[in-house]
Amino acid sequence: VSPSAIAVRAAGPADAARIAELHDRFKDYLRSLGDDTDFKFDARVYLRDGFGEHPAFGGLVAECDGVVAGYLLHHPAYDVDRAMRQLFVADLFVEERFRGRGVGRALMDGAAEVCSRMGGGEVLWTVFAPNRLAHDFYRGLGAEYLADLQLMRLAVRPRPA
Ligand SMILES: CC(C)(COP(=O)(O)OP(=O)(O)OC[C@H]1O[C@@H](n2cnc3c(N)ncnc32)[C@H](O)[C@@H]1OP(=O)(O)O)[C@@H](O)C(=O)NCCC(=O)NCCS
Repeated sequence: VSPSAIAVRAAGPADAARIAELHDRFKDYLRSLGDDTDFKFDARVYLRDGFGEHPAFGGLVAECDGVVAGYLLHHPAYDVDRAMRQLFVADLFVEERFRGRGVGRALMDGAAEVCSRMGGGEVLWTVFAPNRLAHDFYRGLGAEYLADLQLMRLAVRPRPA
């Protein structure tokens, strides 16, 4: 597949089943690396949280000859100190048989385009430490580590409006 045969477009409700299928493979891959997260994302969650009045994330899919080869989910972020809108990439996966053909790069380029269009100046994401493949891919794109920042979290009980 030449790069010109890769078409990146916004993900819609009709992509739910395929994105859930790809996410399942991603989950298996992360588990094989030792990720013991209680994975809960599926097609129902994609439709519930990705659409409606207040979507929690947006998405892109990359098609090769009409087949969805990979997807990327994203949501806005903001850096107060630098007064900069950012785009956070929450998920990126390319099906094994489509890898090494520029699909991942095309999806990251698509995320940069979404970011730029919302006035943002930076795309960021987290990488599971043992996921060497992803580290190599991102370094190849020219991304840098935020060595002076540590990601933290505090559990909260959801109380939907
Ligand atoms: C990481 C991933 C998205 C890359 O997708 P891909 O479609 O194979 O990547 P591309 O073909 O667009 O590669 C883009 C560049 O990265 C390089 N690259 C891709 N995989 C690489 C690897 N494992 N090691 C080194 N370089 C790599 C390619 O050589 C290419 O460089 P070039 O454009 O200079 O030729 C894909 O391997 C994947 O889905 N992995 C499993 C899920 C995952 O880890 N996602 C990221 C979670 S944070």
